Amino acid sequence: MRRKRLKLFLGAVAMGFIGCASAIAADDDADKTPMEKEMKIVSTKLKELRKMKKEDKAYYENGAKAVREAHEALLRSMAFQPVLVKDMKDGDEKLIALADSRRLMGLTYANLCELEVAYLKKDEKLIGELASKWKSLKKEGHKKYTDD
Ligand code: HEM
Repeated sequence: MRRKRLKLFLGAVAMGFIGCASAIAADDDADKTPMEKEMKIVSTKLKELRKMKKEDKAYYENGAKAVREAHEALLRSMAFQPVLVKDMKDGDEKLIALADSRRLMGLTYANLCELEVAYLKKDEKLIGELASKWKSLKKEGHKKYTDD
């Protein structure tokens, strides 16, 4: 009887933990800006590429799909202004930052569209070249327009 009660107690504690963890995760997402939410999709989709195996028959098809979903999210993210830019005082500096951040996202968008084509054409060499290009564009964009 005591054992059963202990099990019930431990079960309740575990459920409490699970509840807290999901509440924290949901809260974490609620804190994100719309741009961050879209960027997170871009990142998740591109990370999927690393897990794909070349031996898999659907390797290129799945790769093209993941990249397509990544650039679709990137395009949606471009409707928003980076928080750091939005908070700047009005003037030429702000307009330059806005245009420059859009330039970098636009280049990344074009690069990811090229990457989708490379997957569809099963061009391994091009896939490698294009992958390193979006990484350096991301680096520049984040260095200039995020707190990272
Ligand atoms: C494929 C390339 C890129 C990937 C994978 C990527 C990924 C991410 C991720 C994971 C976040 C954080 C989201 C979170 O907190 O959960 C983020 C935020 C952000 N990224 Fe990117 N990013 C890329 C390219 C760029 C480029 C080119 C820019 C140029 C402006 C940029 C600007 C930003 C900004 C400004 C934020 C913060 C959002 C805000 O201010 O509301 N990113 N990105």
